Amino acid sequence: MSLESKNLDYNQKLIRSFGRVKSRKLSNNKNFLLENFYNSYKISSIDNSNSKNFLEIGFGFGDFIFGKAKQNPDANFYGCEPHINGIVNLLGMLEKQPLPNLKITNQDIRIFINNFPDNFFEKIFILFPDPWPKYKHFKRRLIDKNFLDKIIFPKLTESGKVIIATDHDSYKTWILSHILQSSKFKWPATSKESWQNFPRDWIETKYQKKAILEGREPILIEIEKS
Ligand SMILES: C[S@@+](CC[C@H](N)C(=O)[O-])C[C@H]1O[C@@H](n2cnc3c(N)ncnc32)[C@H](O)[C@@H]1O
Repeated sequence: MSLESKNLDYNQKLIRSFGRVKSRKLSNNKNFLLENFYNSYKISSIDNSNSKNFLEIGFGFGDFIFGKAKQNPDANFYGCEPHINGIVNLLGMLEKQPLPNLKITNQDIRIFINNFPDNFFEKIFILFPDPWPKYKHFKRRLIDKNFLDKIIFPKLTESGKVIIATDHDSYKTWILSHILQSSKFKWPATSKESWQNFPRDWIETKYQKKAILEGREPILIEIEKS
């Protein structure tokens, strides 16, 4: 399915949930990657085959999605990251090891997600989303009831899961309270192992490594349709 057929007419006024999209001047090599590789990896059509589809929202420097796409060549991985330095970092990895099953965009997922069909993703990963720790910035937090129920829910398959990781205490509580308020999702965790233990084939992200180094405990919140 070509993306041209879909209009980005998502009119809801969005409060920005990410920081700067460009943090420093790009080197010549990075500009080269952007100019020469981004088009090949940019999401321009959606694969309609029977392959499984996965989405990572806010892939940062791309370690997780790159590793997952490499581990699972038969599945399609779609990634979204507005920060250009993150896009370029992932393109650098893809230059060395091309992965045809990985496609990306630098658009805000809250708008871009309208390009995907409903019931499409087996898993949606949101790993270490910006915690926006100050009270006056809470409104920038990506995950809330509206985001879960209206934006994410329709795009998940019936047995689909949303996998959220965070190391930030106040955001942990915020996320769990929004899941509780949601009429569309449930959190089936039964013991602390289910949120403390990351799967064996997990790939640690940059923010996860930083959290561990600094003594914070990352948790994994896996939710499903109720
Ligand atoms: C704290 S970083 C974590 C990056 C990476 N997942 C990791 O664990 O290393 C959160 C990322 O989410 C991205 N982000 C925030 N809002 C977003 C949105 N609306 N759509 C897509 N990405 C978003 C930010 O640009 C940022 O890179």
